[in-house]
Amino acid sequence: MTSAPITRLSISRPDDWHLHLRDGAMLRAVLPETARHFARALVMPNLVPPVVTAAQAGAYRDRILAALPEGAAFQPLMTLYLTEETDPADVARAHAQGIATAVKLYPAGATTNAASGVRDFDKVRPVLERMAEIGMPLCVHGEVTDPAVDIFDREAVFIDRVLKPIRRKVPGLRIVMEHVTTEDAVDFVRDTHKDLAATITTHHLIINRNHILAGGIRPHFYCLPVAKREKHRIALVQAAVSGDPRFFLGTDSAPHTDANKLLPCGCAGIFSATNTLSCLAEVFDAAGRLKDLEAFVSINGAKFYGLPRSDRKLTLVKGAPVAYPPQIETGDGPVTTFDPGFPLHWRVEA
Ligand code: NCD
Ligand code: ZN
Repeated sequence: MTSAPITRLSISRPDDWHLHLRDGAMLRAVLPETARHFARALVMPNLVPPVVTAAQAGAYRDRILAALPEGAAFQPLMTLYLTEETDPADVARAHAQGIATAVKLYPAGATTNAASGVRDFDKVRPVLERMAEIGMPLCVHGEVTDPAVDIFDREAVFIDRVLKPIRRKVPGLRIVMEHVTTEDAVDFVRDTHKDLAATITTHHLIINRNHILAGGIRPHFYCLPVAKREKHRIALVQAAVSGDPRFFLGTDSAPHTDANKLLPCGCAGIFSATNTLSCLAEVFDAAGRLKDLEAFVSINGAKFYGLPRSDRKLTLVKGAPVAYPPQIETGDGPVTTFDPGFPLHWRVEA
């Protein structure tokens, strides 16, 4: 006997464990899109200049809180941008005082605003050792930047060249491999039983590299790490719907204006905050795993970070296709919303 299809799903309010909010006019425009549906988000520090110190993270958090719509109960959780000059004592203080939740490692030059990232991993070892002592997680952008490595292989190569050595040299450091895009990363996380988790974005569950390149180039699907082959997308979906506590949502919603996307050398980043939960419900529904959506979006990440899950609820309802704006207006110009390429039948109940 088959049970009746689920058309209504009530879950703890989700958290986004990897989000770009930017600053100024862009912050004011994109923040409501996340605050509307999410309880918390881990906010990336790749501003210009980057958010490196406890003082900078505290000031950025204040700007985010000031930009929140009236009555929004959204909590930004801050990250510090790891540089070769980062002071271990400042990091420990930021953690102890609740100013920063995690430290973010960008290999120098790996992605948008990553110029001040790390070149020599031995230089940041004292910071990583201090973080291991105090239990503060390291979020890593897992791509090598060696120009000799093919862009589609950069994540898999990162595991061998950087991630494994860090785990060996700094035992006990808790690491999140962010926005994983390959079967290699999924397998590595699955086979590692301690101190390692991964976030998965909404868009990497939906697009593969054909979406970017076949039948014309689609800049709005270009992000880093770049989407890979279909077999990798399938591995990501299997990991996300598995209920395995080591995998959780980090949307990597990363707004750039259309003017900056549609260039001969356009910016990397997909803006998905507006329709992310509808997209995810669709993916989990198609996989017959709606019951595991809550673990992926609301439970696993909170558990990894040692936080209680939100005591507020969010309800998703299935019905006629949802209308969402194809673009949102910002003070800097329009930003295009992620287009999953199929109708979204799940909407978040107001
Ligand atoms: C991000 C951005 O625009 O800040 N871009 C992206 O393609 N994901 C940076 C990042 O997370 O790599
Ligand atoms: Zn990102």
